[in-house]
Amino acid sequence: MEGFNKEIQGAEGFVMPSTQHDALVWLSGGAYDVVFDMARSVIRDLAGLACLGQETSSWSYRHDRDLTGFIDGSENPTLLDAPLAALLPEGVPGAAGTILLLQKWKHQTAKWEALPIDQQERIMGRTKLDSIELENKPSDSHVARTDQDKFGSIFRRNMPYGNVDDHGTVFVGFSAEQKRLSTMLNSMAGLVAGARDALTRFTQPLTGSYYFVPSVESLRRLRGNPDPA
Ligand code: HEM
Repeated sequence: MEGFNKEIQGAEGFVMPSTQHDALVWLSGGAYDVVFDMARSVIRDLAGLACLGQETSSWSYRHDRDLTGFIDGSENPTLLDAPLAALLPEGVPGAAGTILLLQKWKHQTAKWEALPIDQQERIMGRTKLDSIELENKPSDSHVARTDQDKFGSIFRRNMPYGNVDDHGTVFVGFSAEQKRLSTMLNSMAGLVAGARDALTRFTQPLTGSYYFVPSVESLRRLRGNPDPA
């Protein structure tokens, strides 16, 4: 795999910036004090080897909606199928690991919310209340530009970040092949046969990076301290 080493120059001057860092530490937990203390302890442990390049906290919004107000993840593979979409197969270097695309998008909320719901739905390609795919979705709708039947399956989540004034989503996408993710990005930017993703007129990418996420097994081997059990 390659880092997100070059910005993507899309149609009509649209740019997806590259902000690759060396490593990512992702901490997840229900209590922010625990996450906060753990984050500080990781930074202490890595002192002299690495310093903090960037930090983002995120939270869930109305169970499974992103901050556009739409339900996120409807077309995700089930948890049974997700490993097939996201994990490198057995027998290849990095087996059972995954490739992560992490991209922070700042929403232009006032502009988005000024649209009538049916226009938002045509931009997304799904209904807002219950996430039903539109029969005649426009070819520049978000779900048409990222159609997994065309580009291959990935496993993803949009994580809301920010405060009432300045907010958006952190796109977290896992794939067994980097190409699925990079082609989806090119397609959203209007570089793959067709128009630029209409959603990109209401939200602006601020970061772009890829990371290899090793399997738990291989992390255990690295630790060199196998669990006696
Ligand atoms: C501002 C950023 C984004 C927002 C708010 C957003 C939101 C959504 C929503 C609401 C859906 C429809 C429901 C669902 O199936 O999940 C969707 C579908 C999807 N999105 Fe995004 N998304 C964003 C960025 C991205 C990016 C960067 C990628 C990939 C590189 C991506 C890949 C997909 C895929 C693969 C689907 C399903 C398409 C299909 O129906 O096969 N999204 N997204």
